Amino acid sequence: MASIGAAPHVGLKSAYERDGWCEPPYRFGDAAVALLRERTLAISRERRPEVVHEKDGGTVRAIHGCHAFDEVCAALVRHPYLVELAEELIGGPVYVYQFKVNLKQAHEGAAWPWHQDFAFWHEEDGMRRPDAVNIAISLDDVHEDNGPLMAIPGSHRLGLLDLPEGRADGTESDWRSHVSADLAYTVDADRAGALAEESGRKLFVGPRGSVQVFHPSIVHSSSNNVSADRRALLLITYNAVANAPVRPTRPAFLVSRDTTPVTPRADERLALQALPDPTVSL
Ligand code: SIN
Ligand code: MN
Repeated sequence: MASIGAAPHVGLKSAYERDGWCEPPYRFGDAAVALLRERTLAISRERRPEVVHEKDGGTVRAIHGCHAFDEVCAALVRHPYLVELAEELIGGPVYVYQFKVNLKQAHEGAAWPWHQDFAFWHEEDGMRRPDAVNIAISLDDVHEDNGPLMAIPGSHRLGLLDLPEGRADGTESDWRSHVSADLAYTVDADRAGALAEESGRKLFVGPRGSVQVFHPSIVHSSSNNVSADRRALLLITYNAVANAPVRPTRPAFLVSRDTTPVTPRADERLALQALPDPTVSL
């Protein structure tokens, strides 16, 4: 098996700044993915506020803040490659702002409308700048029909779009509208359609274990899961320590209050493997 080179993150920052997304040249190995799937499934069966359901009330949509109570998830956020990648892209020490797994169950998993994550963090929590980064890890094989994440390249450079008026008055919306299919802050579908016509769409598909990175301000969405395959996507948001929000009021499982810089620590259960080099043809 090819080994991961000595400097796997070289060149990613310029791609990330230009496009608002990037993909490192590795993915999590099968054993690591199996372990994360096992923990995720066990948590999704617990009755606790961190477990959120679809509108039907029965299907689990997402689980939140697992790094605070599950030891495997806690080890994952300290993964030296992930921490190095986040620090490289953000440019300084980071802490875990948010941790979630969007499960998008077979046939039942509902869409996420076009939106920008930073709209929620800025408006609700008082995060000043989008000096944060989302690192997504697929726990299932992701294909066009099980509701892949879709992003509009370059849209992170447009600032916040279509914010509702009057939200700067200090009031908060119900946090459930930040994690449901009816989102509180969306980008107008016609505007997103026009942007996508102009700049294209990046579809985050790939085998389980894939690692994909996207900017807090990038316009993104995902469709209903119309297939028989679950699409579990684990998302870690690292934030710059210097950018901790000024007025977090949402539950701690959505906005971590612990802003201690993450200390990297390797865990042999969470091994990565190199992706095949796309420049080498056989
Ligand atoms: C998804 O899980 O498809 C959406 C994730 C997100 O918008 O952060
Ligand atoms: Mn989002």
